[in-house]
Formats: sequence, structure tokens, C-alpha cells
Amino acid sequence: MSEPAERVHVALEERAYDVVIGQGLIAAAGDYLGPLLSKKRAVIVTDSTVAAHHLRPLQAALAQAGIDSAALELPAGEATKCWARLEEVCDWLLAQKVERRDVVIALGGGVIGDLAGFAAAILRRGVRFVQIPTSLLAQVDSSVGGKTGINTAHGKNLIGAFHQPALVLADTGILDTLPPRDLLAGYGEVVKYGLLGDAAFFEWLEANGPALAAGDAAARRHAVRRSVEMKAGIVARDETEQGERALLNLGHTFCHALEAATGYSGRLLHGEGVAIGCALAFELSARLGLCPQEDPSRVRAHLHAMGMKTDLRDIPGDLPGAEALIGLMAQDKKVQDGQLRFILARGIGQAFVTSDVPAEALRGLLQEALAA
Ligand SMILES: NC(=O)c1ccc[n+]([C@@H]2O[C@H](COP(=O)([O-])OP(=O)(O)OC[C@H]3O[C@@H](n4cnc5c(N)ncnc54)[C@H](O)[C@@H]3O)[C@@H](O)[C@H]2O)c1
Repeated sequence: MSEPAERVHVALEERAYDVVIGQGLIAAAGDYLGPLLSKKRAVIVTDSTVAAHHLRPLQAALAQAGIDSAALELPAGEATKCWARLEEVCDWLLAQKVERRDVVIALGGGVIGDLAGFAAAILRRGVRFVQIPTSLLAQVDSSVGGKTGINTAHGKNLIGAFHQPALVLADTGILDTLPPRDLLAGYGEVVKYGLLGDAAFFEWLEANGPALAAGDAAARRHAVRRSVEMKAGIVARDETEQGERALLNLGHTFCHALEAATGYSGRLLHGEGVAIGCALAFELSARLGLCPQEDPSRVRAHLHAMGMKTDLRDIPGDLPGAEALIGLMAQDKKVQDGQLRFILARGIGQAFVTSDVPAEALRGLLQEALAA
């Protein structure tokens, strides 16, 4: 008998919603979705890998509650978050006669959540959507907070909208089918929460991370819940990233440059880039005298112990030089008046935003990291 589901509330007044976390939620999806539907019909956007495991059980659960459903399966992978697929999703939703009061279900990882969420944001100037995140990354991060969007040749997530879901169903049981590499990539975002704002959670991860990776259901659930609680709190205080929400981008300035440098390919998954980026952000913080010298080693030791990519040399293939990477960072959405902004730390669990990073410190850090 599994534990009853838990709820984390995202307190955004008329855009407020719950994130439900627990095992077996897909099987009960009809009960959760029924109250949101104006007619007993739902449309599902998913990818073919997720569909192979979880689409039929979801459609069966909906049917059990008398809800008819249709599904669009897209190719799995980051390349799907593009203009052409956005057009395909929008045209399909219109062909399905999705109206303002209907609900679009995003069943998948961050790619499907971001793409289907963005399509829902712009379709008929906004229809409601429900996130059923299936990857660890999506459960702890991308399904919560309403950031939706696609990539372009100019960079990651440069086209998008804030559009909050009406409900998030995080079924931790479905992480069992996630390939180990994707699970560890999602773990990069989990570690990020500890590093940015909760030293005790980072300590808990140091002790329990290996069990979580090995499949311990209670550890997975605790990590998802704590991460979602932290994200929900930050999003409720700063929905559109005027201040505190930028802390969630710890490691991301480096990550986005590395993802662009590796062509958004299988060479580097987003969460892997976040983990490497967090290690670099702590290294930079220590070099600037902001955090204790031992913190970057502790961060790297934990990532290493988890069998994760930790250093630039762990990325297969060649990387461009330090100047080229800095050039890619300049495309980051956090750039203001041409000034790069970084999330640095005064210690584990104490991140802050700053534009005050001397160019030579950044160049030196990257040159050494590339040569290591
Ligand atoms: N909106 C946000 O706030 C936000 C935050 C962080 C990341 N993101 C975005 O999220 C994306 C990365 O998300 P991701 O890591 O989930 O990638 P993804 O959606 O590509 O999923 C990773 C892989 O795992 C597969 N998969 C997912 N769930 C599965 C399951 N239960 N069983 C078997 N296979 C499964 C997918 O088919 C895919 O191949 C990036 O595009 C990133 O920019 C968005």
C-alpha cells in the first residue's frame, strides 16, 4: 500500500494550483482531471518514448472516469522544442477543436512540458493545461512555475511565455522507467535546490542521493517534494523573475553556453549541464573570495559520488575556447544592458545574483576548466 499523495500549493492568487506528488497518480488521473474539464474530453501531447510506457495507462484511467482522449506523439528529445513542432502542436490542437475552456495535457519530460505549455499559452490567446511530468527534471523543476517555450538557432528558451498550469500530477512511480542517464540529469536540478537555498537538504542528498538513484521510492518522493516546495515558494514570491526567481538559474549561465556549444545534442543533457554549471559557479565564487574554499570541492565530490558529469572534460568531443563560451553566455536571458549576470554563492545554500564578475576571473576559470 503506497503512502497517500501529498500536495504542494503554488500560491498565485487567481493562477494558483496544486502540485500533487505520489505513487500511482496516473492510474487515478480521471479523478484529478475530471473536475477541471468542461466536457468529458481531453487532448494529450507526449513524446513517443513516454507514450510507449505511459500513454495507454493514462488514456485507460481517463476512460474509466468517462473521459474521452486523443493524443499527439512527437519525437523524443530536445530538438522537438522548435518552431516546426510548435506549429504542428498548435495545428493539431486546432484540428482537435480545442477551445478556451478545454484542457491540454502535457505528458512527458521538460521538452514536452515546455512545448505543449507554450502551445497552450498562445492557442486562442491561452487555454488551460495540466502537466503530468514524467522525468525527474520535469517533476522537480520544469512542470512548476509556468515557464514555457522553445529553442531557436540563437539559443535556448528564447521564445516563450509565462503560462501557469492548472494542475501538476507528479507520479513518482513512473520514474522507474526513466533511463539512468536522464534520472541523473534530473538529479542535477535537485542538487541545485540544496545548493541555492537549503544546506540541510544538500546534506540529506549527500547521504540519500545514492539510494534515490538506485530506485528508493521514499527518497525519490522526498526529493521531489522538497524541490517542489522550494520552487513553489520562490515562484509565489516572484512569478515573473524580477528578483529572487533568478536564483533558480544557479549553474544555468554556464549550462546554456555549454548546451549551445554542443548543439543541444545527446553530448550534454540539460540537467548534466546544470550540474557542471553549479560546480563552475561554486568554483568562481571561491576564487572571488565569496564562499569557503572547500565548498567547490564538496559540490564536485557529491556529483562525482553520484556518477555524474562534473567537469568540462566529462563532455565528449571538443568544446570551443573560453572566449567563444563567454560569447555564448552573452545570449543568456539574464543579460541586462549587455552585462552578464551570474548566480554565485556565499556558501552551500546561500546563492545570490550579481553582475559583479571581473571578465578576467571568468576567462581564467574557463581556460583552466577547459585545460583540466
Ligand atoms: N520550464 C522550466 O521552468 C524548465 C526548467 C528546467 C528545464 N526546462 C527544460 O526541460 C528540458 C529538459 O527536460 P527533460 O530532462 O525532462 O528532457 P526530456 O523531456 O527530453 O526527457 C528526457 C528523456 O527521457 C524520456 N522520458 C521522460 N520520462 C520518461 C519516463 N518516465 N520513462 C522513460 N523515458 C522517459 C524522454 O522521452 C526523453 O527521451 C529542457 O528543454 C529544459 O530547457 C524547463
